Amino acid sequence: MRIDVVTIFPGLFGPFLETSLVGKARAAGLVEIEAWDLRDFTSDRHRSVDDEPYGGGGGMVMTAPPWLAAMDRIGADRSVHRILLSPQGDRLDDARVRKLAEVGDLVLMCGRYEGIDERVRELVVDEELSIGDYVLNGGEVAAMVVIEAVCRQVPGVVGLADSVENESFRNGLLDYPHYTRPPVVGGLSVPEVLRSGDHKAISEWRRRMALRATRAKRPDLLDEG
Ligand code: ADE
Repeated sequence: MRIDVVTIFPGLFGPFLETSLVGKARAAGLVEIEAWDLRDFTSDRHRSVDDEPYGGGGGMVMTAPPWLAAMDRIGADRSVHRILLSPQGDRLDDARVRKLAEVGDLVLMCGRYEGIDERVRELVVDEELSIGDYVLNGGEVAAMVVIEAVCRQVPGVVGLADSVENESFRNGLLDYPHYTRPPVVGGLSVPEVLRSGDHKAISEWRRRMALRATRAKRPDLLDEG
């Protein structure tokens, strides 16, 4: 799995790429991730990446040439899947995360300002993705969401394959409640069944709780299923 990120703020990705599961996955060579500075693909003295919009109006638009130069260079030697993060994109969900993990070679393009010259979209973008119906300052945080979610799907990244297979959404249900020591907290005890050692009963209880949580919090998941 390889992911290239193109952004005007590569520094945002430093600690993120070095920490926790993503950091470990990179250190173990399971995923390769690189953040590129879009400004390195500019050709003017000011390294500018934006300009006023044709037709007027407020805000600035990211210009096409640095993006096209970046896309010429990144993945020039292989087949890559280019994703523009934007609030106009298709909504990211578990099914799409799994598809992206199968694609294996992704370029994440982080837009900023009012948007990106439409011709970039037409010429080089394979897919446009949004992480939700709200507007962020740019695609960087959304790219991190994609990276973290996709990396979890790479075999070996999450210690127990079981924990990816069984977590929320994979089986169409939300997660069941989890408990650990101490047995009583604020007067609340751990459900007896979890301390019974009866694995069949525990498994049934977890399934019941997952169903109950899904019905209460995300009934739409049951309707679709
Ligand atoms: N850039 C700005 N807002 C975004 C969103 N909701 N999803 C993805 N990229 C974005």
